Amino acid sequence: MPAAMSDKFQVAVLAGDGIGPEVMAEALRVLGVVTQKFSISIQYAACHVGGAAIDADGKALPEATLKACEAADAILFGSVGGPKWESLPANEQPERAALLPLRKHFSLFANLRPGVCLPELVHASPLHPKIVEGGFDVLCVRELTGGLYFGEPKYTKQEGGESFAVDTMIYWESEIRRIARVAFEAARTRGKKVTSIDKANVLQNGLLWRRIVTETAADFPDVVLNHLYVDNAAMQLVRNPKQFDVIVAENMFGDILSDELAMITGSLGMLPSASLGEATGGARRFGMYEPSGGTAPDIAGQGIANPIAQILSAAMMLRYSLGREDAAGAIEAAVRKVIASGLRTGDIWTEGTTKVGTAAMGEAIAKAI
Ligand code: IPM
Ligand code: MG
Repeated sequence: MPAAMSDKFQVAVLAGDGIGPEVMAEALRVLGVVTQKFSISIQYAACHVGGAAIDADGKALPEATLKACEAADAILFGSVGGPKWESLPANEQPERAALLPLRKHFSLFANLRPGVCLPELVHASPLHPKIVEGGFDVLCVRELTGGLYFGEPKYTKQEGGESFAVDTMIYWESEIRRIARVAFEAARTRGKKVTSIDKANVLQNGLLWRRIVTETAADFPDVVLNHLYVDNAAMQLVRNPKQFDVIVAENMFGDILSDELAMITGSLGMLPSASLGEATGGARRFGMYEPSGGTAPDIAGQGIANPIAQILSAAMMLRYSLGREDAAGAIEAAVRKVIASGLRTGDIWTEGTTKVGTAAMGEAIAKAI
């Protein structure tokens, strides 16, 4: 990771599979405009990842890609996976062999997944219009390098003529404390409320989680903390998403709840995400930025995918890894402006608005900056 003293940055661009390359092209287009306007210099290193890397280099995360990421200030990630690689052994598949190792390698423990339902797009939410009226804005903060995903031991064995599988859920206090701090700090910049998710009525991990989050809250007296069991949280999200500001959850619970949150916004193609490492100095930290949506193989290559999630991921990158709130805000404002002007990709289109493809949406946002 180069020490970024001036506004000259290196970004590893990992477009990946499915719609990844098409939406990435639009993110780069928008970055081109915004960096010029705000005098930011970025050098891009395009690298293979996922299925595309399996085809080209024989594995989902080639050495050269990892090296380029190590040399960069941030990773701008598209999406990986697809039907073509689904028959490979589990641990060679793009998701397991690229995404999870990248998270672990760079200790990207803090996953920010904003779930925003814009007032203009409430019709796209599957929830009752009365529930989502006026839109909502929930930030899911998911712990990303601990818990069941990475806990050891982890294996499948045979005994007495049948197989059994073991995954280990383990959290250290320090892991809980650092993700809780991320949630409280985020809440400070928005609705000043954190809802911590656990299963303290069953799991030891839940008891520890609740105790450490509560302790951490003492450093943030301006933020209101409440706790929910994960099953109740899943229910509350569809009953009344507006009650939430920031939710913080361990890895697996956050995986599940963030998909639910994305679904109820009605616009998966609009949601970015950031996976951050420890803050090293000042406002900048290494991170990987990717759309929440995935590869969407059913529409890949048709030029109709919504590029907004990728474009907003680039905005998050400017904010968290490059320390350029000004440029990040400009992209976000341009996206809102274009939505307000009535332009829509197919996923969010309704009668009375103008349907456009991936490139036209990217162009419009670039122009609005
Ligand atoms: C996500 C995905 C990944 C996860 C998969 C693809 C391994 O669902 O980023 O939420 O479970 O973390
Ligand atoms: Mg998931």
